[in-house]
Amino acid sequence: MDNTNEVKKNFGQRAYEYRLSSTHGNPKDLDRMIGLIDPNFNDDVLDVATGAGHTAIALAKFAKKVTAIDITPEMLAEAKIASIQDGISNITFRTENVHNLNISDGQFDIVASRFAVHHFSDVRNALREMCRVLKPGGKLYILDCSVVDGDESEKVINRIELLRDSSHQYSYSPRLWNQLLQDLPLTIVHASLLQSEYKLPVWFDRMGTSQSNREEIFKLLNNLSSECKVNYPFGNDYITTYRYELLATKN
Ligand SMILES: C[S@@+](CC[C@H](N)C(=O)[O-])C[C@H]1O[C@@H](n2cnc3c(N)ncnc32)[C@H](O)[C@@H]1O
Repeated sequence: MDNTNEVKKNFGQRAYEYRLSSTHGNPKDLDRMIGLIDPNFNDDVLDVATGAGHTAIALAKFAKKVTAIDITPEMLAEAKIASIQDGISNITFRTENVHNLNISDGQFDIVASRFAVHHFSDVRNALREMCRVLKPGGKLYILDCSVVDGDESEKVINRIELLRDSSHQYSYSPRLWNQLLQDLPLTIVHASLLQSEYKLPVWFDRMGTSQSNREEIFKLLNNLSSECKVNYPFGNDYITTYRYELLATKN
């Protein structure tokens, strides 16, 4: 289902919070990304769904130039502010929808996207587009919210994510990622599932989650089976989450 309006509304209202987000701006995560991608000063980079620009800015420090695209103009405006504050001048910002990129084939040495795939309404098409604009031998880096393999976690954790953010589409488990990647012209270099935490209430506040949805989320967590609960410890001030991280090269 097309969620363009929902994405633009939710992120349009929250763009400033995303610029300040310590989750998206976490220096340890960004350093790990740079270490994995290993960009160089000849690289032409595309950052898909740049949000408030954390990924684009981190990559711009090690690359020739970065094109940062997003569907939400308010997010791009915050990304521009962040890049100016960081003294970065090799990023071009453009409004684009990942499902239909206005970019010719094989343009980029690196295509990166963090914390965004779970919003894409047609993930197979979005991934095909990201591969299409990569040069042969180019690198695709993806980091996104994920869930542990299993029918229950895939269903309930996605329900929780949707209660928190109405533009959420789907967080894929590693087994579902394997299916998504199967038909793409890619060689997987690195794939891992990382356990992490969402701090509360910051995670709710960033998306303006209603009180009733917050309560519903805790109900769902309390009702998880014991096998599933082991993977999802939580408290009043945190929820456990997972991230899927991928580095692949285009064949
Ligand atoms: C959490 S933010 C991204 C964070 C950012 N990549 C980072 O590393 O900090 C998610 C972004 O995805 C964008 N987005 C969602 N659907 C999109 C689409 N179809 N095309 C382009 N951008 C999209 C939203 O506008 C939002 O800015």
